Amino acid sequence: MQSMMHQLPMHLLLNYLLSFAHLCAAVFVPWADDDPFVGLDSPVIDTVLPPLLPPNKVDDSNRSLRPKDQIPDYVVDKCPLVHLYSEEKYWPSDIAEYVTHFSLRDSDGVSVVPSVKPPQRPLSPSDLRSSYKYTMANGTLANISSTNTFMTSLDDFDKDPKWLLGFRPEYGTGHIKDGPAVLVVVDKGNGWVDAFWFYFYPFNLGPFIMGNGPWGNHVGDWEHSLVRFYRGEPMYIWMSAHGGGSAYKFEAVEKVKKLRRRNGKLTPQIVERPLLFSARGTHANYASVGQHAHDVPFFFMPLSDFTDRGPMWDPSLNFYGYTFDGQQVLPAGDREREIGVSWLYFSGHWGDKQLPWNDPRQKWCPAQWKYINGPTGPLRKNLGRISLCPHFVWWNFWKGCPARRLIKKGEGLDAEKNDLMGDNCGILLYKVRPSWLRSLLRLLTWRGILCFVMDYFTG
Ligand SMILES: *[C@@H]1O[C@H](CO)[C@@H](O)[C@H](O)[C@H]1NC(C)=O
Ligand SMILES: *[C@@H]1O[C@H](CO)[C@@H](O)[C@H](O)[C@H]1NC(C)=O
Ligand SMILES: *[C@@H]1O[C@H](CO)[C@@H](O)[C@H](O)[C@H]1NC(C)=O
Repeated sequence: MQSMMHQLPMHLLLNYLLSFAHLCAAVFVPWADDDPFVGLDSPVIDTVLPPLLPPNKVDDSNRSLRPKDQIPDYVVDKCPLVHLYSEEKYWPSDIAEYVTHFSLRDSDGVSVVPSVKPPQRPLSPSDLRSSYKYTMANGTLANISSTNTFMTSLDDFDKDPKWLLGFRPEYGTGHIKDGPAVLVVVDKGNGWVDAFWFYFYPFNLGPFIMGNGPWGNHVGDWEHSLVRFYRGEPMYIWMSAHGGGSAYKFEAVEKVKKLRRRNGKLTPQIVERPLLFSARGTHANYASVGQHAHDVPFFFMPLSDFTDRGPMWDPSLNFYGYTFDGQQVLPAGDREREIGVSWLYFSGHWGDKQLPWNDPRQKWCPAQWKYINGPTGPLRKNLGRISLCPHFVWWNFWKGCPARRLIKKGEGLDAEKNDLMGDNCGILLYKVRPSWLRSLLRLLTWRGILCFVMDYFTG
């Protein structure tokens, strides 16, 4: 042993030290290696690919989309396919039909635009705008932003009216005739293009906690995914879920071979399309099947989503398409021009206001209500983002959003074994015995930071 030490050449020793330094860097700054989108001045992007630009900085010299209101064919070719949950109860629906079941009210419950139950004068997408002039509860006539307005159900949503249930995909094709997706394409300059696919469901059924629930339900549910292209090649994919969603290198996610369509007709060419899994009730998106723990700090109880290979939805067969330059939305076709673009500027809530505590339908469990506010719409989802993630959970102070190289594996009975998949931290915690130690670990790591770090190394 001793003699070997003496024989170790100096440069080898230096190499060891350097590798050790690298390892430390990887341990302490895990985001440095793998998130090219933290800032515009990121060295990774500078040396390899040109930087992404915020949409309002894109000019004629940097534009990736020509003409600027045209949706490129490659965006539709790489549209994700979505496996909905086999026992899903709330399927996708059409925003244009959905809005007819609502009145628009402010937070005091005052009607903001006149509307009457169909067929008299139902609310229409063109009634959704960025601001409204109306008489408030105190009698003042004011022009206010739509931010604090709520689409308020005309029916009792607690009784599952038919419009709340949405529509299943057609078997075989995955077409949903009455449930168009919404595509918003954003030019990020220098060859970069972001394709945001929005999935609209009339209702979000929240999770059960220890057999009780569901909690955190809301009327209206906007989920989305992002496919990021460089010069027509898909590079990254991000999908929405609780606490921030997850980002992957495009090659990491599972693909399905499909025939390419051009102008609604099948061609003999094959395209590989990415596959997403929409969770039961919450419609959060994942890259694998099984049980997925919510990364919610301060929740120490098992709070999970479930995905499986239920009916497959092909959003590319029916969608409203738009381009967005950070300011203006441009419709891609006649159908979009017909319903108008004003609804995209609506910044209010796409469902009822959280029920008051004294409403018989409302319930409370520590930390969560049974019914919460409806969500906000597509343009409120930071479409100008440079990072793959739209926002960051509070403990992610370094604003990292690393794109995973391996699929994050689901757990539980539905999970499938697949060599391509990485492990994740849920397993680490589940394996800890005794259980009081596990709880303590969860407490110490807030269920979040440790998961994030573990995901980084195993992903
Ligand atoms: C746009 O592209 C041109 C040419 O590649 C470059 O000189 C210019 O700095 C770019 N503009 C921005 C805002 O990056
Ligand atoms: C009514 O309420 C609005 C907003 O809360 C306020 O700006 C306005 O001054 C109020 N008008 C009167 C007459 O109190
Ligand atoms: C209300 O204000 C917005 C800007 O905040 C303006 O664009 C709009 O024209 C105004 N509407 C009316 C009816 O005055």
